[in-house]
Amino acid sequence: MYRCVFPDGQSGWMVTRYEDAVKAFKEARLIKDRSMIAGISEHQSVFTQNMLFSDPPDHKRLRGLVQKSFTPRLVEEMRGRIQEITDELLKELKGREHIHLIDEFAFPLPIIVICEILGVPAEDRDKFRLWSTSLIEGRNGEYANDMQQHMKDFIHYLKFMFEKLRDTPGSDLISQLIVSEEDGDTLTEGELYGVVTLLIIAGHETTVNLIGNTVLALLEHPEQLELLRNQPELIHSAIEESLRYNGPVEFSTSRWAREDFDFRGTRFKKGEMIIVALSSTNRDSMEFDHPNEFDITKEKSPHLAFGKGIHMCLGAPLARLEGEIAIRSLLKHFPLMKLDVDRNDLEWRPGMIVRGVKEIP
Ligand code: HEM
Repeated sequence: MYRCVFPDGQSGWMVTRYEDAVKAFKEARLIKDRSMIAGISEHQSVFTQNMLFSDPPDHKRLRGLVQKSFTPRLVEEMRGRIQEITDELLKELKGREHIHLIDEFAFPLPIIVICEILGVPAEDRDKFRLWSTSLIEGRNGEYANDMQQHMKDFIHYLKFMFEKLRDTPGSDLISQLIVSEEDGDTLTEGELYGVVTLLIIAGHETTVNLIGNTVLALLEHPEQLELLRNQPELIHSAIEESLRYNGPVEFSTSRWAREDFDFRGTRFKKGEMIIVALSSTNRDSMEFDHPNEFDITKEKSPHLAFGKGIHMCLGAPLARLEGEIAIRSLLKHFPLMKLDVDRNDLEWRPGMIVRGVKEIP
């Protein structure tokens, strides 16, 4: 565990060891909603009124409500449609010598999928991409100066959409969330914004990097690429190894010490911020043999790329399915793909949360 000062000036702790991280994810005295700590008053933004920033019992209610509609069955039912979208995107690229893998494939695929699940019209997808990138990259990002305006536009759009779906609900996820809200006053208006925003951002910003980072790892390890080409059935373990070796989410979200307490030899003070360095825990030599090697034949990988405990990623089955279909199809259509620039010239995205390159030519 390391004491650190985070970019916003907050002091706290960074958990870097695997075992410490597992314990931290399950520690009830590390909470997500800082305003619950006595003496701290904090305004909750519209974007944080969701399960990721809540503690029990609110967490269970919010997660349960989304889980009711966002089921493993719904994800499995999307399999055919994800393959169709993948094939359509790859057909456009077929025959070209140069492609921009992120912009032309890794980004559109998860966006189209999550927009279809949520019920966002196809013509509005680009707006969602802009707002989502603006929000996640924040003050260091490309759209830093326009961020406030983007947030206003985003909320305005959602407000209009919620009103429309209230009058004429469809079979999409947002309509189902709205209906649940009206049935048993389970989702407040603010929570509806919070939950939908979380799903949009999680659906846009993570899987794109799973696809990109997996391609990069395979290109950097030609023998593993060759192995996967010859044994496509290894796709499942290849995705798990990619999640461990080069996970799309670098750090967990923040947790706060509810009170003073000793945690595995370190004294946490009430109100201190704790984050888990997921990428570090996934290469902990006390947990993984040869952690810096990329080996797609590993049988099982207890990586923490999706977190652990009550906040463990709700979208993991969807992300895995998208990753598997995307990589398998890409290798089928472009078996001889190569990086078109020097590896060191690739530019990484700013911000502390997502880990991925801006483009892979
Ligand atoms: C939570 C990673 C894709 C929805 C999380 C957390 C991680 C994570 C690490 C926990 C954060 C923490 O405890 O601080 C990832 C990765 C993905 C991915 C690596 C892709 C490879 C998705 C997708 C969706 C999604 C596609 C939905 C469309 C969520 C939600 C939570 C969450 C709703 C909050 C769960 C809760 O607090 O109970 N994700 N995610 N994620 N993720 Fe994902």
